Amino acid sequence: MSASASNSNKERVFIFDTTLRDGEQSPGATMTLEEKLQVAETLDDMGVDIIEAGFPIASNGDFEAVVAVAKQVKNATVAGLARAISADIDRAGEAVRHARKGRIHTFVSTSPIHLAHQMKKTEDEVIEIIARTVAQARNLVDDVEWSAMDATRTPLDFLKRCVDTAIKAGATTINLPDTVGYAVPEEHFRMFKTIIESVPNADKAIFSVHCHDDLGMAVANSLAGVAGGARQIECTINGLGERAGNAALEEVVMALRTRGDAMPFFTEIDSTQLSRASRVVSAASNFPVQYNKAIVGKNAFAHESGIHQDGMLKNAETYEIMTPASVGIKETTLVMGKHSGRAAFKDKLKELGYELGDNAFQEAFQRFKDLADRKKHVYDADIIALVDDEVGSV
Ligand code: KIV
Ligand code: ZN
Repeated sequence: MSASASNSNKERVFIFDTTLRDGEQSPGATMTLEEKLQVAETLDDMGVDIIEAGFPIASNGDFEAVVAVAKQVKNATVAGLARAISADIDRAGEAVRHARKGRIHTFVSTSPIHLAHQMKKTEDEVIEIIARTVAQARNLVDDVEWSAMDATRTPLDFLKRCVDTAIKAGATTINLPDTVGYAVPEEHFRMFKTIIESVPNADKAIFSVHCHDDLGMAVANSLAGVAGGARQIECTINGLGERAGNAALEEVVMALRTRGDAMPFFTEIDSTQLSRASRVVSAASNFPVQYNKAIVGKNAFAHESGIHQDGMLKNAETYEIMTPASVGIKETTLVMGKHSGRAAFKDKLKELGYELGDNAFQEAFQRFKDLADRKKHVYDADIIALVDDEVGSV
């Protein structure tokens, strides 16, 4: 099925972007207010459903940023993060009340290791905290997300009690984060499926998946969460985020778009804006994007090997599963290097305005290969020089 195929048989998945909150928690990625507003505008324009704008209690700057984003955003819901502490929840409520649609996102740890060492609380105490803080948030706004921090290392029986309590207290979204990037896809699928099937009021909330990339599985786990029943994915542009980062927005969006045949879901993201969003976030966070990054890396649509270039010249679908245009990149690049073959070299010569006879072409191709062995990058100017030299010497 092509990427532009209809969504009529598919279910909607909401995209919750946390570039401005979890993304900004990446060491060194701090953004100015102006940069945050630019990122928020980009996200809003591309169709992100929920923008997590910051952690209002963290600092006055964070509070002001959430207020400013809330005032600026036209379409998306704007969320502010709050610990399960009364003052945090009030501060988040104060910040998001400026939004057309505001959400308080409150969280508490649920895993034994966090309860014993970080919170020093019993399970019953955590249940009481959830009931009280979710109800407090719900008194301030209609849209409340509750997260079970470290959900993937929480025994399922206790996780069920927590989720049940949060829904009864008024949570409208339930997020089960893989806080430390520990899950594997099959297990993640099962966690969502089991919780959704066994909590009595599960249909009263949207379930959300939030994955970190410590083992490089954030995107795979996010998709497994959706297969298990989640209908919101929390992610960041370029996969920016704590430690190894969060699930990359551009990857989950394009995975669902490209593989709608295997996963019948869709998002409302305008994927042609992905490449620009990646550049905006890279500049704002001062984090370069790796060359081979899926979807938005410099090499994501570049081909050097002769076999691949030959295939691409015959039919782009031989080596590309999505078009560069679908993610906002102008065109595929056939990089001229030592792996390039005759077909790509001939095509390059044509593009540069040369048509050589057989002998001259063979000579020029040999000289190009010799040059490519010596030089990392062979530019158009190098090819022009070697052909002019060649033609001049005939
Ligand atoms: O990774 C995590 O658990 C979080 C929560 C605050 C949702 O970022
Ligand atoms: Zn996180």
